[in-house]
Amino acid sequence: MLNSLRFLSSSLRYPQAARFGFLVSGLAIERRRRRLAQFWDPHLEQSKACQRSWLESCKPDGRLAVLGAGRLFDVATEDLCKHFSEISLFDADPQCLRYWKREYKNLRSDAVFFNHISDITQVLEQRQSSLRTFLRRSPEWNQALEFLRSLAASADSPESEFLLHGEYDAILSINLLSQLPVYWQHIAEIELVRIFGKKHVAAREDEWLEALIPSARALINQHLRDLARSRAKSILLISDLRYEHYYRDQQGGDVIEQIDALYGVELTNHSQLQKLFPEFDSQLCAQWDWHIAPLGRVRNSIGEKHRVASIIFSAKR
Ligand SMILES: C[S@@+](CC[C@H](N)C(=O)[O-])C[C@H]1O[C@@H](n2cnc3c(N)ncnc32)[C@H](O)[C@@H]1O
Repeated sequence: MLNSLRFLSSSLRYPQAARFGFLVSGLAIERRRRRLAQFWDPHLEQSKACQRSWLESCKPDGRLAVLGAGRLFDVATEDLCKHFSEISLFDADPQCLRYWKREYKNLRSDAVFFNHISDITQVLEQRQSSLRTFLRRSPEWNQALEFLRSLAASADSPESEFLLHGEYDAILSINLLSQLPVYWQHIAEIELVRIFGKKHVAAREDEWLEALIPSARALINQHLRDLARSRAKSILLISDLRYEHYYRDQQGGDVIEQIDALYGVELTNHSQLQKLFPEFDSQLCAQWDWHIAPLGRVRNSIGEKHRVASIIFSAKR
């Protein structure tokens, strides 16, 4: 009830964040974190432990950007604010502000904090409006798929929002990378449903998801490109690598399906990382499973785990 009221008032104040799915997803994260604490805690602790050991190699008193800060569940805020003199938090969900302000009060730190609430990719609004305009003019399914396939050119994408605020000494990208295409998928589905109807779009899910692959991959590449361009001295990237769905089939056998969370970008492949981050040395620090939706607890018939990795990039210069 309380959450419904909060959602309603946030939707009125932040209609775009509501339309893009940030409000609903944020509330779902909050609810699951509470209900599934025993399954989520090991992941949250592991994420924080990686940040603590990363700090040992970071120059003190610098400027830090935290990308995908969310509700700070997986952020080692106490340790970060002892180390950095300025911390900028980035997220698209305005409901996070409440959490950030509460944390600043509790921390009683000398660090200076900055809040940035907006789409970090800066492309979602433009993509939504060009897809909508196209669909209004040419409401043919196959043309819509062609248009989706053409929305890819990551070289043309604008700079991510965190590059617009000067240089940071260190950047923490925290469980954000794999999420970037999720919201774009949500937006594209809404636009397709508006023109073709729910039934039509649901029946052709494989087709439109396949057409969305280049533009989804472009968001992943844009984030990595901009981390590499950032001129930060040190970057900690924590991200899902793949999703694992597990369930029992009709014969009672155990089935596991693995889905690539990063559309072909292999963060565990050293030579791929060197190409993406030519001016950095990279080090894969840890990998673990985040049991995000245990079987029978969220969706009755399917359980879900995420394989997560943490990678440190240190500038060569
Ligand atoms: C899996 S959560 C990360 C967990 C988060 N650190 C926490 O403790 O709540 C992903 C976060 O990325 C944010 N996010 C996803 N896409 C974004 C975008 N395009 N711009 C800014 N934030 C985004 C979501 O709002 C969400 O808070």
